[in-house]
Amino acid sequence: MSVRHFTDLSAVSEGDLRFMLDDAVVRKARLKAGERTRPLEGKVLAMIFDKPSTRTRVSFDVGMRQLGGETIMLTGTEMQLGRSETIADTAKVLSRYVDAIMIRTTSHERLLELTENATVPVINGLTDDTHPCQLMADIMTFEEHRGPVAGKTIAWTGDGNNVLHSLLEASARFRFNLNVAVPEGSEPAQKHIDWSQAHGGKLHFTRSPEEAVDQVDCIVTDCWVSMGQEHRARGHNVFSPYQVNAKLMAKAKPDALFMHCLPAHRGEEVTDEVIDGPHSVVFDEAENRLHAQKAVLAWCLGA
Ligand code: CP
Ligand code: NVA
Repeated sequence: MSVRHFTDLSAVSEGDLRFMLDDAVVRKARLKAGERTRPLEGKVLAMIFDKPSTRTRVSFDVGMRQLGGETIMLTGTEMQLGRSETIADTAKVLSRYVDAIMIRTTSHERLLELTENATVPVINGLTDDTHPCQLMADIMTFEEHRGPVAGKTIAWTGDGNNVLHSLLEASARFRFNLNVAVPEGSEPAQKHIDWSQAHGGKLHFTRSPEEAVDQVDCIVTDCWVSMGQEHRARGHNVFSPYQVNAKLMAKAKPDALFMHCLPAHRGEEVTDEVIDGPHSVVFDEAENRLHAQKAVLAWCLGA
């Protein structure tokens, strides 16, 4: 069997993604029931972080431990990577020691180079371009609260960033409608729009956040300036109309969900009343990073 990498939702089949989500639901229920199994006993996951993280770092670490495996935490700057050893050589060396590699890094090309040169599974823990693990947790969370996401409508308001890119791919893979409102100059990369539409994604783009969220089942947003993207930071006055506040939330369906990958910048992209209010499921999303990624790890490692 070829090595199973988890680089992007577009790189994994719809059937495999659904299999992982179903598995995540079962694993979560079993954990809550107190069942413990150790299918990854003896396996080691190397985690490379070129950017900060709370959720990704802790959820992969705890997830691996719950599955009976172990982790090694690495930061790019403390490795020879930071002294210009190549990603390709790093991939070949790490593959001799560990059973899988999770990486959070800057350019997507670094992730792909690691994947091309590793002989063990590589998992994308966020790049400048995408954040597929986040979307696995987000779809799991939506379905926990509202049932099958297929045919539902989700709205994104804010910056056209890495989380939106994976959301665009998710809309095709999980067959939901996606409305996108971003200010001029903050559009998502065309390649993700094209891929989504070519794979059945039903996308609607507008400059108006009010139009985007009108009667939708869920509103999603994220920070206005992503890690390492400070060079393309736009003034807050550009983004302020895209803030998710009670007035905007009220335009969605009465039982609409509010999602945010966290960390949140309260008072910027979302107000306290929304993120702490009855529509918000942000901490379920954070929890589900753990359960969804355990399913990803099990899929990659054949457990
Ligand atoms: N949502 C997310 O990836 O959070 P961290 O940056 O804390 O890992
Ligand atoms: N778009 C954000 C997500 C953080 C989890 C960033 O890349 O900084």
